[in-house]
Amino acid sequence: MNFFEYRDGEMCAENVKVSDIANDVGTPFYLYSSASIGYQFSQLKNAFNNLDLLICYAVKANTNQAVIKTLAALGAGADVVSEGEMRRALNAGISPEKIVYSGVAKTILEMTFALNQGIYQFNVESGPELYQLSEIASVLGKTANITFRVNPDVDAKTHAKISTGKSENKFGVPWTNVRKICAKASELPGIKLVGLDLHIGSQITDLQPYEEAYTRVAELIQDLRTEGHEITRFDLGGGIGIAHDEDNDQPIHPTEYAKMVERVVGHLDCQIILEPGRYLVGNAGILVSKVVYVKEGGSRKFLIVDAAMNDLIRPSMYDAYHSIVPIIRSDDKRELYDVVGPVCESGDTFATNRQMPPIKSDELVAIRSVGAYGAVMSSTYNTRLLIPEVLVKDNKFAVVRPRPTYNEIIGLDKLPSWLSE
Ligand code: LLP
Repeated sequence: MNFFEYRDGEMCAENVKVSDIANDVGTPFYLYSSASIGYQFSQLKNAFNNLDLLICYAVKANTNQAVIKTLAALGAGADVVSEGEMRRALNAGISPEKIVYSGVAKTILEMTFALNQGIYQFNVESGPELYQLSEIASVLGKTANITFRVNPDVDAKTHAKISTGKSENKFGVPWTNVRKICAKASELPGIKLVGLDLHIGSQITDLQPYEEAYTRVAELIQDLRTEGHEITRFDLGGGIGIAHDEDNDQPIHPTEYAKMVERVVGHLDCQIILEPGRYLVGNAGILVSKVVYVKEGGSRKFLIVDAAMNDLIRPSMYDAYHSIVPIIRSDDKRELYDVVGPVCESGDTFATNRQMPPIKSDELVAIRSVGAYGAVMSSTYNTRLLIPEVLVKDNKFAVVRPRPTYNEIIGLDKLPSWLSE
């Protein structure tokens, strides 16, 4: 479902004209649709109706409080990877009993904070982490519920930089070592082994790697039960891919995914935990930008827009494709453009040789499918201001993170005494 549709030739976000928001807020800005988030969440939830399910939104995809709160109101829990993310989730009203903690390098301070909050589960990734957690939990007189993140050595068939389930990746316990580490865990104070988890990568567009990984870990769960471990949870991770082009359908449909999960792991009777990030918020966001200049280069035509790689790093970092469309629809004959930003790097390119209708300076364009890993990965490189985030609900919109001022950005630096006197 597309919540950024053209009406009378003009793009709307739900029931608000994108150009009205641009006039109010100024460009560039991120624009999110509440209805899109709600739709994605309920699609996933309904697909898993037959299973005991906890959806833990991978907060890292979009940490805006308004976005987390929208999901919290729908009943989502959270998957967090830092104390900061856990604080954001708690602050947005997600109860600690619905929060799981992932990540390869949880520090003593982070473990202490999470234990004191009464977190639902730690996804533990190594022996050293296990011992550390046992020690801290014991000191605090608490019990940490843990799952072990298994590295199933499966190729998720996604971009190398977001692939996490192969044996050469830093993530998880090698699947051949899992039984040994579970035996260790059952002897340690302050630790209660409750399940296994995995996360094999992000932007996965094929069910086959998931099935391979889940099958492998399901067998491990049965082995562990035979060895006397009480395994009640299976955390399947995140990674469901989305279409980055509005002409394409969702590559993995939730019902197909749920059917496969039921078939492969349903018999275990575990609580199923999902950690989707991009699936929930990716297509709920666009980046609205204004064309500054149209430049005829030596061999190409450049659309130079006012957003840049510091606002959206995905194309330069992962060669990611994002559809780019004008806010005012045009059926004029397409031309080829390179869409680039103002930053002094050739990598500051959103699209190359892209077919678009003729566009002039001052016109607005939308870079689509940027609700996940967009704003959260932005920076102030080139001393460009972080761009505002705006949330739409039906015919209302609100700035949910304002544009900072130059003084706020420059004021973060402090001069040492020898330069300020
Ligand atoms: N669970 C764990 C343990 C993860 O590491 C991640 C993402 C997720 C869940 C959520 O994955 P998702 O459902 O969003 O695919 N910056 C990259 C994506 C990095 C993903 C990192 N881990 C990008 O822009 O494509």
